[in-house]
Amino acid sequence: MNSKEQKVIISTFEKEVCEGLTAFPKYLSSKYFYDEVGDGLFQQIMALPEYYLTRAEYEIFEKHKLAITQSFDANKEGFDLIELGAGDGKKTKVLLKELLNQDYDFVYKPIDISENAVDGLINNLNHEMPKVTVEGQIGEYFEVLDRLKHISDRKKVIMVLGSNIGNLLHPRAIQFLKKLCNAMNPGDLVFMGFDQKKHPQKVLDAYNDKSGVTAAFNKNILTRINKELNGNFDLNKFMHWETYDPENGTARSYLISTEKQTVDIDDLSLEVHFEVWESIHTEISQKYDDDIVKWLAEESGLEIVKSFSDSNNDYKDYLLKKAK
Ligand code: AVJ
Repeated sequence: MNSKEQKVIISTFEKEVCEGLTAFPKYLSSKYFYDEVGDGLFQQIMALPEYYLTRAEYEIFEKHKLAITQSFDANKEGFDLIELGAGDGKKTKVLLKELLNQDYDFVYKPIDISENAVDGLINNLNHEMPKVTVEGQIGEYFEVLDRLKHISDRKKVIMVLGSNIGNLLHPRAIQFLKKLCNAMNPGDLVFMGFDQKKHPQKVLDAYNDKSGVTAAFNKNILTRINKELNGNFDLNKFMHWETYDPENGTARSYLISTEKQTVDIDDLSLEVHFEVWESIHTEISQKYDDDIVKWLAEESGLEIVKSFSDSNNDYKDYLLKKAK
């Protein structure tokens, strides 16, 4: 990454921290959870007994890998498998292995905001699956979408796994899906994971684990402000809080100030006042059902081809195409 890009990223962080902490009610974006420490905490989250999402998607891939890979490229014409937010690629490897075994002609193009993650994934794949052609890219979702159209003239299958779309409320999810749709040619496909509505307690537990890893993940955003913007948040004076509204399917994470306090953020020349029990909203993790996914797709010019579910129906991956 060159110094010019670096500067842009930092100033966006500064701007958004300033905006969010001077707003009422206060908020910060969950995209700032993910620095090197945050990446590590998220790895731990994926291994938690309470965090069912990753295992459910893994189960879907193991159980349906034949049907999934066939639906990507039924006529074996060759395609680019583009993954937005690739992370460590653990689940994706199940599909990559199947594609190799079935002799598909494909190039795997993982895209992630974390250069660290993309480099790690490429090295890992070159080592573990040298027969897979990998071309990584670094960038943010929305920005990368603009590049997608020109990424190749081959058939594209675009994957967004892990219910990553759940960080977007419906209007922004539709914006995102519309952009995906615009980057697609007829015949291109989207393969996307949507965590399903379920027992509200199971959702709450997934985002409020006993070991406190999720709390540490949430608080990492304050640690980053301390480190990168010279802030003096006392992490012991904030607590992690999770809510789930079964009516609209939205899980929300907050950090709550347990006392009246003032926090200084020197690099922003900002004093932030907190009343006792005042909140900072940090993340949404939306839950879905078939009707909502169908509606989102229709609003975006897409349509559902089929879906694949785990044995509990906790989680689904949907195959989407451009609507006619
Ligand atoms: C990576 C956005 C899908 O919302 O479930 C996990 C992030 N936050 N635990 C999710 C997360 C708290 C995760 N996504």
